[in-house]
Amino acid sequence: MRLLSRDEVRSVYDAFGARQDSQGWYEDVPLAELKEHMRFQDAEFVLELGSGTGKLAHEIVTELTPAGTNYLGLDVSPVMVNLARNRLRHCGNAFAVVGDVRAPLPLADGSVSHVVA
Ligand SMILES: C[S@@+](CC[C@H](N)C(=O)[O-])C[C@H]1O[C@@H](n2cnc3c(N)ncnc32)[C@H](O)[C@@H]1O
Repeated sequence: MRLLSRDEVRSVYDAFGARQDSQGWYEDVPLAELKEHMRFQDAEFVLELGSGTGKLAHEIVTELTPAGTNYLGLDVSPVMVNLARNRLRHCGNAFAVVGDVRAPLPLADGSVSHVVA
């Protein structure tokens, strides 16, 4: 099996865009299970790797963490980052940026309290 390159992944998700949100038929069950195991009640700074359209991000910021928690989503697809930014536009302290999880993260060591991917 061959891994997709960063450019191939970006191109797939840029083209897929908002249709990602219609993938609940296979994503909702594992996401619900993931959320059950997330212990983010004491989170100060959440980093999400592959933040997509910001669907999970919005739940993290509005339901799963204390008010005022910092959130940063990282995604290789500029289209996904724009969708996430739009979804998070009313959430303070929540941002999404373009980046590759395989590259050094744009954060200082020890600055993040919780990571989800
Ligand atoms: C299944 S989607 C994530 C769904 C997301 N949790 C949501 O709520 O929309 C996977 C995401 O990972 C991103 N991704 C894949 N490989 C990546 C990489 N190497 N670095 C950063 N993001 C990556 C894709 O662009 C895509 O948006």
